[in-house]
Amino acid sequence: MTTAYVTQNRVERAARDIVAGAAETLDLASPWVEPYPIQRLLGEALPRVRAGELAVRLVYRVAEESDLRITDLSALEALAAEGVQMRYSRRLHAKLVIADRERALVGSSNLTRRGGYGYDGRPLWRNEEGGLLVDGDAAADAASHFDRIWEEADELGPDLLGVVMDFPSVRELRFVAVREVSVGQLVVASDAAETTVVGEIRELTAYNESFPQMTEEMFLSQGLGGAPPRRINVPDIPSLFSHPVKDHGFLVAKTFFRPESAFTIARVRVLRRVRGGRGGTATVPVPPGSDVRAPSAALLRRLLGDGDVRLGRLAGHAEVGVWLRSDEILSKHLAVLGMTGSGKSNAVKHVLRTLAARGGLRVFVVDTHGEYATAAATIDGGAVLLDVSIPDRIDMLDWEMVKERFAVERMTAAIKKELRAAAAQAHEPSAFAGLLAGSGNDVVQDIADAVAADPGGFCVGKEEPRVVHEGGDDEADLSAPGLYVLDLRQTETFVVRSRKCAVLAERVFREAKSGGLPPALLVVDEAHNYVPERTTGYMAEAARHGSLGALTTVAVEGRKFGVGLVIVSQRPSRIAKDVLAQMNSQLVFRLCNLEDIGYVRESFEAADETFVMELSHLDTGVCICAGTMIEMSVRCDVPLFAPRRSFDLGAAALPAAAVLEEAVAGALPAAALVEEGEELVVFSGPEAEVTLRAEGGGHALDVDCADEKLAERVRAAVEHALAPVQPLSKSASTGLPEDA
Ligand SMILES: Nc1ncnc2c1ncn2[C@@H]1O[C@H](COP(=O)(O)OP(=O)(O)O)[C@@H](O)[C@H]1O
Ligand SMILES: [Mg+2]
Repeated sequence: MTTAYVTQNRVERAARDIVAGAAETLDLASPWVEPYPIQRLLGEALPRVRAGELAVRLVYRVAEESDLRITDLSALEALAAEGVQMRYSRRLHAKLVIADRERALVGSSNLTRRGGYGYDGRPLWRNEEGGLLVDGDAAADAASHFDRIWEEADELGPDLLGVVMDFPSVRELRFVAVREVSVGQLVVASDAAETTVVGEIRELTAYNESFPQMTEEMFLSQGLGGAPPRRINVPDIPSLFSHPVKDHGFLVAKTFFRPESAFTIARVRVLRRVRGGRGGTATVPVPPGSDVRAPSAALLRRLLGDGDVRLGRLAGHAEVGVWLRSDEILSKHLAVLGMTGSGKSNAVKHVLRTLAARGGLRVFVVDTHGEYATAAATIDGGAVLLDVSIPDRIDMLDWEMVKERFAVERMTAAIKKELRAAAAQAHEPSAFAGLLAGSGNDVVQDIADAVAADPGGFCVGKEEPRVVHEGGDDEADLSAPGLYVLDLRQTETFVVRSRKCAVLAERVFREAKSGGLPPALLVVDEAHNYVPERTTGYMAEAARHGSLGALTTVAVEGRKFGVGLVIVSQRPSRIAKDVLAQMNSQLVFRLCNLEDIGYVRESFEAADETFVMELSHLDTGVCICAGTMIEMSVRCDVPLFAPRRSFDLGAAALPAAAVLEEAVAGALPAAALVEEGEELVVFSGPEAEVTLRAEGGGHALDVDCADEKLAERVRAAVEHALAPVQPLSKSASTGLPEDA
């Protein structure tokens, strides 16, 4: 139990003995910590800390600012870099040195020279201190107490980004950054009472208090970042620059400008509240003084929800994948918006590929420019190319057409009667003409001759347009799951494209309504042409030729019958408002046109001021994902769509390490054949997606998996398999090989 009593004269000796004897753990509590004493105490143990053999925890106090005049944070930082774990407590007063929970020094000495540490024989004024060396139960109790202190203490750590300032609201907060941050970065702010929110940095303001904008009084009271105040007359900006020689103002300002006293204030848009690791709507603000930290990948994954279609990586957090919920896209529709060339079609191809590979779903694409038709094989090997055959033959029972075609002055009842009678007996134009031959009516006789001469130009009874295989004439069967592309690149006029789109949409909807078919997704690129807001001018064609009506029906009623709609457009403001309003999820790429930006702002929830400001700055391939298909609005980096080759890992269950390694090894030597820019899917499923890309002469491995341990195992298996093939980067998602 108690083995010795120690005073300031013996305390360091006793503590060093404990440190030297620590086999596995060393726990230190000291309200104040000076650099020299702590370095001397831990110096000899540091190699073991570095090697991971000895776990050292140190807790110090920050109750008031003056604590930091004694405790030297830079010394602690140096120890943290060696692997010592460090926390600060607001209430610490105990002084403990505990080894392996078995031996402890409990006393009154801080880790300071006044407390008796770092004493090297020179005369120094020290406190009268008293402490006990204990072991057994007393040491174990001290260790438990330390655990409690540690639990309640906070960590600065490299993920600490800053502190919340002024008046945070439920929607927005500002913080002073203590580490480098960037716009678009996601952050977590939380106070001690477990109010935690996650938000996105929307703006950064650099502020330099040394710039002569302040009064002299302010200048002196601010202390200029710890430097002793200089007694200088600081002019304010108006008086500086009212000097007749403007350069004078410039030069004076320069002499006051001290770069080291600049700092950054970040404005954050609050996205979600976090409770129990899950997201919810923020209803209370975090208080000023709350910590702002970088969120962990695991938290971000949980907040993003359980989507099953991988679109890309979370912007600024490359280790986190952005997954969309296909059931929401199918039942509540999706709008993909952004100016020409911003990356819409590229993103849509990713979604289509995943959905097509999933099976059980029919995906129909209205492809104005043939960009999906040309990529069809890389999106889905079994893709079916479609066209719509629109009859242009004259219907012999359409009196208006007959009248016009044969220049009949008056379609008399007698003429109509003869045509009807023949039609009742013959549907084939030649036979129909044969029945009319020999009629006493001259007009009918002329008609009969003309039809007999060119039977292909006529038909008997109305012909419906038909969805056919491209280049064929047979009615296409649309019932099997898979990708269907209506290829309109050969269709010249706008009128006919709209008609064809309508025919496909009507058929898909009609068949879905009658039931028994797999769910369908209708994807309409260049949608402003097919569902225009204005129905005048050339846009009238879409209304007249049906695509507006047909697609509106799908938008409004499709969900009841399992038909989802994806509309893709560079001109959101030109799309029918009623249709856009039915789109409950959005991918918004770069948008510059003010009219379009305004329209997007009005038509979806996640759109706030700062978000709208961002739209015109998005890089190609970066989009904002919002709506019901994702738990939280985020920016996503969509990769360039590349041809993929998938390797069948057979029955290799992802969690079974040995099986996995073997399967990967079997599949991956073919990776040597992956060409620059090509992408290879090692594994793709709801639990993970593992891809490999040839890049810069090597391979970049991208493992996206919510289960960190599993991801690590996959990575290891792939690296193992690839070792004889090519040098592979160690970093999960961004790295190029070292010798690239
Ligand atoms: N994620 C991306 N990364 C890099 N380049 C891209 C990306 N998405 C698109 N691009 C480039 O931009 C071009 C236009 O992309 P596309 O998806 O067709 O735009 P949109 O459909 O919005 O007009 C593509 O040909 C491609 O070269
Ligand atoms: Mg496009």
